[in-house]
Amino acid sequence: MESNLIFSESQKINESVRNGKVLIGSINEDNKPNFMTIGWGMIGNIWYMPVFITYIRPSRYTYKNIMNNPNFTVNVFLDDLHQNILDKCGSISFYKKNKIQEFDIEYEFNSNKIPYHPDSDIILDCRVVYKEDLNKYEINKEVKNKYYSNNDYHKAFYGKILEYRSKNG
Ligand SMILES: Cc1cc2nc3c(=O)[nH]c(=O)nc-3n(C[C@H](O)[C@H](O)[C@H](O)COP(=O)(O)O)c2cc1C
Repeated sequence: MESNLIFSESQKINESVRNGKVLIGSINEDNKPNFMTIGWGMIGNIWYMPVFITYIRPSRYTYKNIMNNPNFTVNVFLDDLHQNILDKCGSISFYKKNKIQEFDIEYEFNSNKIPYHPDSDIILDCRVVYKEDLNKYEINKEVKNKYYSNNDYHKAFYGKILEYRSKNG
């Protein structure tokens, strides 16, 4: 896999993450697919590998999925055409509703049987190589009060990027 090509797209990918235009695809133990919207995360170079880091709270169904199966997809949208899907996948949990099924959200499976959205501008197929809970004793008070009053501390999942696919080839 061509790392230089991935890194040349990293600015675009990180900007979409910041704009909340990225879905994480995962699968449960019954092979039911799920998408969740993320706003925090980044692509980068660690251990001389292209890695995508996503920060997921334990309360998310996606957290349970990735703990069970380390493969996930990163689905990047560069325009506003899929905002409706991003809104739904960012506000409803699979614990309450099977979003993909109920809203008829399109998906396909990659070679690891993980769902991706076929309209994504960029798709990263990832596998967790490292995961780490945020250490509550090391978080600045201001951030802690703002984001962690309920103790739902994110875990950082470091996914090695196995495949990169782009609409533009
Ligand atoms: C714009 C946006 C960004 C979000 N970013 C994150 C994130 O980075 N990490 C996280 O744990 N939840 C994030 N969420 C919340 C989850 O997407 C939401 O709780 C979702 O319903 C979880 O789905 P699941 O329980 O089916 O996995 C975000 C929501 C929105 C709308």
